[in-house]
Parts: sequence; structure tokens; C-alpha cells
Amino acid sequence: MSGPLMNVEDLRVAYRAGRRKVEAVKGVSFEVGRGKCLGVVGESGSGKSSLARAVLGLEAEVSGRVEFDGQDVLSLKRAGRLAFRRRAQMVFQDPIGSLNPRMKAGAALAEVLRVHGLAKTRAEAAAQAAHWLETVGMDAAYAGRFPHELSGGQRQRVNLARALCVGAEFLVADEPVSALDVSVQAQILNLLKSLQENRGITWMLIGHDLAVMRHMADDVIVMKAGEVVERGPAADVLSRPAHPYTRELLASAPNVARALERRSRRGTV
Ligand SMILES: Nc1ncnc2c1ncn2[C@@H]1O[C@H](COP(=O)(O)OP(=O)(O)OP(=O)(O)O)[C@@H](O)[C@H]1O
Ligand SMILES: [Mg+2]
Repeated sequence: MSGPLMNVEDLRVAYRAGRRKVEAVKGVSFEVGRGKCLGVVGESGSGKSSLARAVLGLEAEVSGRVEFDGQDVLSLKRAGRLAFRRRAQMVFQDPIGSLNPRMKAGAALAEVLRVHGLAKTRAEAAAQAAHWLETVGMDAAYAGRFPHELSGGQRQRVNLARALCVGAEFLVADEPVSALDVSVQAQILNLLKSLQENRGITWMLIGHDLAVMRHMADDVIVMKAGEVVERGPAADVLSRPAHPYTRELLASAPNVARALERRSRRGTV
């Protein structure tokens, strides 16, 4: 199938608090081309996470249209939704909160492999788990470690392996490195970029750091109060922003970008 992998039209997300209705996303449209990275930037509360959950079908009060590979996500039935959940997954900000503390890394991967019927025996599951750990840059020996025996960066790698091992093609990464040490942030971002380049993974990166976004994203959308105020190729929007709000956001760019530059020159992830 050709065309963009993700196509979103007039998406609206609302929350109810008693009688009050908060409109977090107010009619947002965009597409994400196959093998591309769409950056989503905007100040706190602008609706980025609401948008992220909605495109994965994880928000209750949603209207508009979300199409993934030509399929209407918001009206998927049970079987279709399960298949979609394998192909499109969230990468969370807090890598430890998304892992079971009592499960070793290898067992966590083996479990999802078996739940999805992708490994028939324990040995097969273990072999595949080892393969996916290596794919995300970890020695297979880490399969024997519990989450608390891993660093934050390693835990985020395990989360990525768990998404990839069941066939994720589309990742929505909501501030995937903001809980990590600055020195580790560039490593995880470079890993995500290499998954895009080497495995054709399509992804959305949500973040505050516009200097990082310029490195990672192909296109960006800039959100303010639930709406997109500016969009276009990341290199253009983030170098020559047309909107004063984007210029304001640009004024506060930390230094992870420099570490990214150094690492990509050395070719390490
Ligand atoms: N579960 C919820 N119930 C009620 N209101 C919510 C809920 N989640 C988000 N909101 C509101 O929706 C708006 C958008 O929030 P959202 O979390 O999507 O923003 P964000 O851009 O991800 O912010 P941040 O950068 O701080 O993560 C905010 O006004 C927020 O208070
Ligand atoms: Mg958020």
C-alpha cells in the first residue's frame, strides 16, 4: 500500500471533569510518511500527549479520522485492534514504570512473543529475545537482568525491543528521553533514528527540545492550545520559524543536540 502510513484528519480530543469539558486537541490534521519521523512540539499543556494517545486509539472521547495504512483506527473491532496494537506502539517517558519489576528482561520479551503467538517454545522465545536485545544495542546476557539491575537507558532499550519484537512499524515516542541522564539521552535518540534508517520504522517524536527535534524529525508540527500553529520540514520550521510562538519555543533549547552531533559523527548509537 502506498500513501502515508498515518493520516490524521480533524482530530479532536476532549476530557470531562464533572460538568466541565476540556478540549485538549481541537481539530488537528497531519500525515506521517512511511519511514519518516514527525516531530510534535509545543509548550506544556498544548495537547501533545493527548494527540499521541488518540492516534493510537487510546483516548475515549475522540472525533475525526485516524487512518493507519489505510485502516480506520477509531472504528477497529477487537481482532483489528489487536493487530493494530502490534504494529503501532507507544514508547513512554518513564522506562521503569513500563516494565514489570519482577520480570527479567528476557522473560518480558518472551512473554509478549508467546502472547502474540510468535514463539512456540521457550527456547525459541529465548533465542528471539536475545536477537531483539542485540538489535537495540544490548548484549544478550542482559536477558537475565531485572529492571532494577539495568540503567535507565538500558530499560528504555528493553522497552524498544519489546515493541519491535512483536512487529512494531510505527512508534509514538512521548518524551522518550526526558527521564534519562543527559549523557544517555543522545544514545537513545540515536538508536531511534537508526531504527528509522535501518529498519524503516515510522515514528512520531514528542518533545520540548527543539534543537534535538531539528536533528531527529523530518517534518514537525507545532502545537499551541490544542491546535497546530505551524508545520513543515523540521529544518525549515526550526531554523526559520514563521510563527512568533515557535520563535519563543526556540529561545529555550538545551544542549543534548551537541552530544547528538558528536555521537552521530562517531557513528555510535
Ligand atoms: N486525563 C485528563 N483529564 C482531564 N484533562 C486532561 C487529561 N489529560 C490532559 N488533560 C488536559 O488536556 C490539555 C492537554 O494536555 P496534554 O497532556 O495532552 O499536554 P502536553 O502537551 O502533553 O503537555 P506536557 O508537555 O506537559 O506533557 C491540558 O489542558 C491538560 O490539563
Ligand atoms: Mg505530555
